[in-house]
Amino acid sequence: MARVLIADASIDTRRMMREALEAEQRLEVVDDVDDPGEVQQCIGPLNVDLLLLDRDLPGGSAYDLAAKLRAQHRHLGLIMTGNTPSINDLRQAMQAGSDDFVPKPFDAVTLSQSVSSVLRKVEQRRQQMAAAEMGLGSVPSKVVAVYSPQGGVGKSMLAANLAVVLARESGRPTVLVDLNLQFGDIDLMLNVTPERTIAAVIQRLNQLDPDLMESFLTEHEESGLKVLAAPARPEYADTITVFVVEKVLQVLRERYTYIIIDTPSFLQDTTLTALDNSDQVILLTALDLLALHNTKTALAMMEKLRYGPDKVKLVLNRSNADVGISVDDVEQTLEYDISAFIPSDGRVAVTSVNEGDPFVISQPRTQIAQSIRKIAWQVVMDREQEFLDENPEAAAPPVKRRRGGGLLGRR
Ligand SMILES: Nc1ncnc2c1ncn2[C@@H]1O[C@H](COP(=O)(O)OP(=O)(O)O)[C@@H](O)[C@H]1O
Ligand SMILES: [Mg+2]
Repeated sequence: MARVLIADASIDTRRMMREALEAEQRLEVVDDVDDPGEVQQCIGPLNVDLLLLDRDLPGGSAYDLAAKLRAQHRHLGLIMTGNTPSINDLRQAMQAGSDDFVPKPFDAVTLSQSVSSVLRKVEQRRQQMAAAEMGLGSVPSKVVAVYSPQGGVGKSMLAANLAVVLARESGRPTVLVDLNLQFGDIDLMLNVTPERTIAAVIQRLNQLDPDLMESFLTEHEESGLKVLAAPARPEYADTITVFVVEKVLQVLRERYTYIIIDTPSFLQDTTLTALDNSDQVILLTALDLLALHNTKTALAMMEKLRYGPDKVKLVLNRSNADVGISVDDVEQTLEYDISAFIPSDGRVAVTSVNEGDPFVISQPRTQIAQSIRKIAWQVVMDREQEFLDENPEAAAPPVKRRRGGGLLGRR
């Protein structure tokens, strides 16, 4: 029996919906409420499978509420309702993770059709998540974006090698998303030949689910990493909107534990969306004045966006370069702690790019490879720790703690 909660300000509408739904055999209306606070309180305790949420519920944005609930209750089916919705309403509802929008006034048939189809989705979601979690523990996913306002600073080098380490060593499904929509180069760095790219996702956006998503990914065979490649031609970049990026990440989260995003330095709206939807942003910088200047601006922006120190980790690339700027100078100038260091190693880095062979596989014992393994392990441990903080009753984490690995730790 599916458990349904109705949230609508009008008592008449609630009654009408209740009657329509109670006529269905496989449904139980567990409650009907008119207040957003009550919605939040009920969902967990009442074990709600499907929420019918009116857009005009008083007391704050229903879209914000929807997004929050979807983030907290990942199986929850969500149908929004509302009078004469505009395109923008539909867009906002989808962005908030709503499964459908039923315009008012509606009749019992329209409502129950929508309810059945969303309940099928909920069931699928449940099965997929159960499958993905089998033997993997029920730990939520972690999205890590590698960003820098500076080009050529090593973002793609870090994103590719970090994702490969996670895929090989964490034992959990890992995917790398190339958001350099104009000039993506992850396919070259990993020597993969994508048949489809993020550009192909657009035509199927409405049907996008984890299974369909798989058909757009390319496997890096040496590591098992999945890659969502950038469009093959720069002119396709514009077709990829904020909405596409959000939806892609939302669907990837259902199946992948680690989602690494490589970004362009140019701060377009899709990049910002990716940063917003990330749990962690690795802000990569280097020992030169221009990089430091740009990084300072980026840090100020992230502070404005309320990304806290838990979210933004500063990583210094080519940290051993002798250029007259010291690590202390960097921390003082930026007023921010450096979480990890990647040494300069032109021979290893350049051969690796030229051969499309990530150095964490081909040269695992080099310092540069080890420095990236450390970052990867910190990503893993942070995630396990967050999970334990939220679920203190959970069993010991499957990952062994390593001594001295705390370079990306909170300070
Ligand atoms: N630590 C490093 N040591 C040596 N070369 C590096 C290092 N980091 C990056 N590089 C090289 O710098 C170039 C630019 O790196 P890339 O990852 O493409 O930068 P971005 O993605 O930020 O534009 C590449 O040739 C890469 O191999
Ligand atoms: Mg790059």
